[in-house]
Amino acid sequence: MGNMNRETVTSVHHWNDTLFSFKTSRDPGFRFKNGHFTMIGLETDGKPLMRAYSMVSANYEEELEFFSIKVQDGPLTSRLQNIEVGDEILVSRKPTGTLVVDHLLPGRNLYLLSTGTGLAPFMSIIKDPEIYERFDKVILTHGVRYVSELAYQNDIEGLPENEYFGEMVDGKLLYYPTVTREDFRNQGRLTDLLTSGKLTQDLGLPDLNTEDDRFMLCGSPAMLKDMTKILDDKGFREARGGDVGHYVIERAFVEK
Ligand code: A2P
Repeated sequence: MGNMNRETVTSVHHWNDTLFSFKTSRDPGFRFKNGHFTMIGLETDGKPLMRAYSMVSANYEEELEFFSIKVQDGPLTSRLQNIEVGDEILVSRKPTGTLVVDHLLPGRNLYLLSTGTGLAPFMSIIKDPEIYERFDKVILTHGVRYVSELAYQNDIEGLPENEYFGEMVDGKLLYYPTVTREDFRNQGRLTDLLTSGKLTQDLGLPDLNTEDDRFMLCGSPAMLKDMTKILDDKGFREARGGDVGHYVIERAFVEK
């Protein structure tokens, strides 16, 4: 397993029956861009069982953090959900991904559109000071079925108090959680909220336009398909093959 590091679990947090997060040690040589993912997993029967996970931690943090669903019959997550402090996980030394700001045209507003565990890479991105230099507003959306799935709410809402770059974030980072199957202050699918204009209205932002607005998308294949259709119809173009564009996408790696 020469292309993998062995890291030690330092904390585990269970959000609810279906979601958990954990932190691990970080090899000092492990470098990544905020928004990247890598393969992580467990050694089972002497073989590595690996899946793609985005880093929740920013690239300047001392530890690594990951956010995962629990699938009861999932090959990896049925086991991974039982990890405890002191256990060992495997982390591939080759992080990669498309959710990086360099792929986007310059703009004014950066919309981070996520559903479910698609939130993970954006947790890393909203802790990146560079993002606040490049954009006037950074809008973090998180669409979930139930309120209990709104992981990291306190961390997101607490970022403006961050001792290092809180001042940069204050007034620039807008958080828009939305719930589809329970009462909540914001309700409905992000696709519908975008199409109807309710999202921008609620945030006090202008209607979407190709001049000012940029997007990063991370969610289920169905969400990505519907969302990219909406953006394409509005004249936005995906960044591809080294060319910059109005939006970038990554699949939330759900089948675990
Ligand atoms: P809904 O409750 O209407 O299915 P999931 O856990 O299935 O990935 O869903 C996470 C969130 O994404 C839920 O709020 C869900 O809404 C929503 N969602 C599911 N499919 C889509 C889609 N095609 N476009 C936008 N949002 C979606």
